[in-house]
Amino acid sequence: MTTKIFKRKSGRKPEEMRPISAKVGIIPNADGSAMYQSGETIAIAAVYGPKKMHPQHMQDPGKGVLRCTYSMLSFSVTDRIRPGPNRRSTEISKIIEWAIEPVLMIDKFPNTVIDVHINIIQADAGTRCAAINAAAMALASAGIPMKNMVSSIAAGKLDKTVVLDLDKYEDSEFEEGEGSTDIPMTFTDDGKLTHIQIDGNITKEQLKEAIEMAKKASKKIYEVQKKALKDTGEEK
Ligand code: CDP
Repeated sequence: MTTKIFKRKSGRKPEEMRPISAKVGIIPNADGSAMYQSGETIAIAAVYGPKKMHPQHMQDPGKGVLRCTYSMLSFSVTDRIRPGPNRRSTEISKIIEWAIEPVLMIDKFPNTVIDVHINIIQADAGTRCAAINAAAMALASAGIPMKNMVSSIAAGKLDKTVVLDLDKYEDSEFEEGEGSTDIPMTFTDDGKLTHIQIDGNITKEQLKEAIEMAKKASKKIYEVQKKALKDTGEEK
């Protein structure tokens, strides 16, 4: 239950997500590609594969390997980011794999690797969710069979109020009362969770509310992803 009407700095209502848009087929050389934008956060993803996995000892004869590489471009935030992998990008790359793998029919491609390169060209929080949305569309556009689409969004809490889709100010600088809690989640298009992380404190009751809020929003994201795939004739 939302305990009070909360005024967000952005003027958004507690359950209001940022404006979203998506486009498929943005990188002609890739086997599949997509862009997903949420407010000021923009992710692009490019898929290469399935291709034979090298070195050979990393091949899995039972299934293909999904290998995601997330990185924030140096100009994606106001303080320039040092290029190259770091602890955070390595962790987020793994999370993207875990969020998407449950819907990917990767057993059809033994001994191969499917590389998904995800770049954040502009960041204002929620980059892992934007990355997951772009990567899932790019995989679908590459023709990799998927049981479902996945759609990712964060919900959370500002002081005592459950809110949807925290921006950078809300995620990192908000300090009123209990501060902020960020809960990125990923849902299949039939409403199953494939990924949830909790950064901060929240009661069981409010967590349930946050999950419901995000699940509802994930359906709107799915519609945008579906439309972007349809517009290029590559709907799964
Ligand atoms: O982006 P996401 O919310 O998935 O992950 P985070 O680690 O909670 O980062 C939140 C936000 O902090 C990012 O989206 C960026 O806007 C910002 N950030 C930054 O300015 N510099 C970094 N080295 C990492 C994150």
